[in-house]
Amino acid sequence: MYYGGDYNPEQWPEDVWHEDVRLMREAGVTMVSLGIFAWARIQRDEGTYDWGWLDRIVNLLHENGINVNMGTATASPPPWATTKYPEILPQDADGTTYGPGSRQHYAPTSPVYRRLAAELVHELATRYANHPAVVMWHVNNEYGCHVNYDYSDNARDAFRVWLRAKYDTIDALNEAWGTAFWSQIYTSFDQVLPPRKAPYSLNPGGALDFKRFTSDASLELYVMERDIIRAAGATQPISTNFMGAFPPLDYWRWAEEIDVITNDNYPDPNDPQSFRSSAFALDLMRSLKPGVPWILMEQSTGALNWRPSNAPKAPGQMEALSAQAIGHGADGVLFFQWRQSRRGSEKFHSAMLPQAGTLTRSWREVTTLGETLGHFPQLAPESNAKVGVLFDWENWWALSHGDQPVALDYGRLVQRWHAALHAQHISIDIVKPTANLSAYSLIVVPQLYLLSDEASRNITSYVHNGGQLLVSAFTDVVDEDDAFREGGYQVGLRQVLGVTVEDFGALVAPASDSSLWSVGDSPKAGSGIGPGQSHASLTGPFGTLRGEYFAEELRVLTADVIATFDDGRLQGAPAATHQVFGAGRATYLATIPDDSGMMSITSWALAEAGVRPELDGLSPWVEVARRGDVLTLINHGAETTKVKASGQDLLSGEPVEDVELEPFEWIMIRSSEDADAEY
Ligand code: GLA
Repeated sequence: MYYGGDYNPEQWPEDVWHEDVRLMREAGVTMVSLGIFAWARIQRDEGTYDWGWLDRIVNLLHENGINVNMGTATASPPPWATTKYPEILPQDADGTTYGPGSRQHYAPTSPVYRRLAAELVHELATRYANHPAVVMWHVNNEYGCHVNYDYSDNARDAFRVWLRAKYDTIDALNEAWGTAFWSQIYTSFDQVLPPRKAPYSLNPGGALDFKRFTSDASLELYVMERDIIRAAGATQPISTNFMGAFPPLDYWRWAEEIDVITNDNYPDPNDPQSFRSSAFALDLMRSLKPGVPWILMEQSTGALNWRPSNAPKAPGQMEALSAQAIGHGADGVLFFQWRQSRRGSEKFHSAMLPQAGTLTRSWREVTTLGETLGHFPQLAPESNAKVGVLFDWENWWALSHGDQPVALDYGRLVQRWHAALHAQHISIDIVKPTANLSAYSLIVVPQLYLLSDEASRNITSYVHNGGQLLVSAFTDVVDEDDAFREGGYQVGLRQVLGVTVEDFGALVAPASDSSLWSVGDSPKAGSGIGPGQSHASLTGPFGTLRGEYFAEELRVLTADVIATFDDGRLQGAPAATHQVFGAGRATYLATIPDDSGMMSITSWALAEAGVRPELDGLSPWVEVARRGDVLTLINHGAETTKVKASGQDLLSGEPVEDVELEPFEWIMIRSSEDADAEY
């Protein structure tokens, strides 16, 4: 278990370093991330490097048995660079240039930025590739975090190169984007621009390709740095820190190029349910590289500085969230940052070593956790999950364009489906639509609007071979160009579902269903005048659910109707279908359930698929996560809770029978025959 944090010694006089290292040892720190924002300290001008200070701190850490995760320092170009080469600055969609003075003020496609970064990384990697303190490399920092999309002329030029490589001819691009619509036909790649500010809706195919290009452009940068580090002879694992389900970057694609997944996680202590979205992010990180443990690269010991209100973590909460990461597959827990800054934008951000010193609860919690992690046995990386939730960035990008029947937030919807399963104490993998699905008993498909041919073949053969599928509305609508296919909707999955949609029947989006009609008597919802229908109930073997966003008009082909709409425009019409296909079964739901509806339908689907909770009878506030034969149980709630579980306490080795968990208390239990033998 790695334990430590970002360490920024360049912010402190050297005599403080000795105190740092002494306290790191006291806290049980085993690894620090060094130099992430030290470009300006390392390089005073083009060609002038100052390595002395970095050599001294790396050696000091090494002498004290503390490993280094070496940052490549490329996330914040120094003032000399932006003054000399202002063309490296990025631009927003309005054409405004982002100024320096903060961080991440570079266009990922700028040839000058790339050259400067490459030179720095070459010097750094050559110097430290064989240093015994360096156990890992940390490339750049949180790619895309602040500048999600760059629309500069650098981006324009690189986008054209990317498009040429993809389409070869401009006619192929015209065909894919449907440029005959609104007189957008290009006669040369040199006419194509990034989707900059325009009077009205931009071409969806073009916008989708720009998002693909943006993810690829930053990945190209990562790969550039990685290859330079390798070419310098470094053999350590190389990574860059992810940010959970981060919209602009296709982490499925990125994960292929990264040795060890590392992630930054900042659940909001003001939100008692934030442990659920955290669980989603952690399941995603484990799922990005199955079988390889990942590392929690950053979390906070307490308050942040970047939310409107930055609550501290409650006593025990930091440790509970650390256990959560480990339970979901992490083999390391690190923080931003080691010592709280005294100046600068993040001076209010908590740290392992707080501004208030070591006589603090925060420091006691840090040293206690370090002590605990120091005695941690090896854990298997696998969750053995039987349930997968399909998740796809390209679909996210296509859905985010708008101009669709109803506005929906795909990232949030996927998390809600995950939360419904998670609250039932099910282990869940997040799965790419083209991944091998054969290990799963149930696959949930939320709003997979854009479905590639490869993914639809994959899903079809999964069901044919005996898998169970639960598909909710607005799935399999367009192809990879964000264009309708020949033959209506659900062309890819029609065989497996036995049903197709005639009309999407958009409902009033859940968050915006109040209007002026609240003055006086409203016409009955769905009556055809006045406020539109905002939800539709349906009743089936899973009980009665409330559906939102869509009440689709289905044409049932070969499936059985298992639920009909109870009310609204489609009263009496099919609302859910079920079909046996090959050795498996597929359920289609013509709407998107609300939270409790998601619980009901997933609980029905789990029972159909024969998937049991990891433990029965648990409070929804108690989280269960599996790693091989070890279950992590965490009480995220405010009440002490009894848990019926037996096995061996992973840390004490003592037998466990019926535990009682106080708020934020956690336990890891190893069981040879499994805590709840029914699994
Ligand atoms: C991110 C960054 C860090 C720091 C923290 C603050 O995770 O990577 O440099 O800014 O946020 O929470």
